[in-house]
Amino acid sequence: MAPPKDYDSIPAFHDKLLRSKRILAVCGAGLSAASGLPTFRGAGGLWRNHDAIQLATPEAFGDDPGLVWLFYAYRRHMALQVQPNAGHHALAAFAKRNPDFLCLSQNVDNLHLRAHHPAPQLRLLHGSLFSLKCSRQPQCTWTDPYNDADPLCPSLAAAADDNDPTLLDASKPLAPIPTSALPHCPECQTGLQRPGVVWFGEPLDEAMLDDIEAWIAADVVDMVIVVGTSSVVYPAAGFAEDARTEGKTSVVTVNMERSVAGMREGDFMFTGDAASLLPELLKPIIGDL
Ligand code: APR
Repeated sequence: MAPPKDYDSIPAFHDKLLRSKRILAVCGAGLSAASGLPTFRGAGGLWRNHDAIQLATPEAFGDDPGLVWLFYAYRRHMALQVQPNAGHHALAAFAKRNPDFLCLSQNVDNLHLRAHHPAPQLRLLHGSLFSLKCSRQPQCTWTDPYNDADPLCPSLAAAADDNDPTLLDASKPLAPIPTSALPHCPECQTGLQRPGVVWFGEPLDEAMLDDIEAWIAADVVDMVIVVGTSSVVYPAAGFAEDARTEGKTSVVTVNMERSVAGMREGDFMFTGDAASLLPELLKPIIGDL
């Protein structure tokens, strides 16, 4: 099916933007690509020949917590090395100018907050690389909401020091890390500390989901901006359609890869780097960054 008329017209988008009040964004790893962080499903979704997605499970952590921690130590280190890009800054500036804008992000890299996105207008769907919790949750409720120690502990220094930006270098195998060398929960003393991220097979925070549903249901959502996500992981992938009121809501996709399948009248698709496109798209509201 042909895409809708004017689907990639910036003036037509600006016209809709200026008539929109309640706006939702759903962000994914592509937003942070220009900062230098790899996406999951594109090139670079491997870390030392391990599939990044297969390491992000409670089972992987149960089998080899040292290996999973090395991967997360590496990701923490990488995220601390890079800077938020113009895409994060544009979303943060937009949030400050529009109190009816809510940004949902699957990214755990902390770059939204480092770009000073107002926290009340941000929901971190998949948690944060820089929070910690007990591996025995929900039995043990210990959490540390923010910890950016790099490395987190001496045994993880090898991964934290690894500056290979391609994540592909398997030629330097890291020594296995015994569980005894990993940080344990200071509260129950039996569980391990683990990253405060949502792994595959784990539920998202229920109160956060209720709050997002309530926000969507409160009134018509005029626009949903879907940025840099492959939209395959639920519930994130479902929010754009959940928020759609036929004939009123424009779903606006910003992605490096063009995909016009399933577009409806009034939807937009902008192909390219989110870090370049978002400042241009939001310019009528945020001005020059
Ligand atoms: N600008 C815009 N889009 C980009 C850019 C860029 N510079 N670079 C890549 N993209 C797009 C890709 O075309 C792809 O559609 O970003 C998307 C990244 O998709 P994924 O790697 O699947 O990342 P994401 O959608 O965030 O993954 C969802 O899966 O692994 C889990 O929990 C993890 O939160 C993550 C979730």
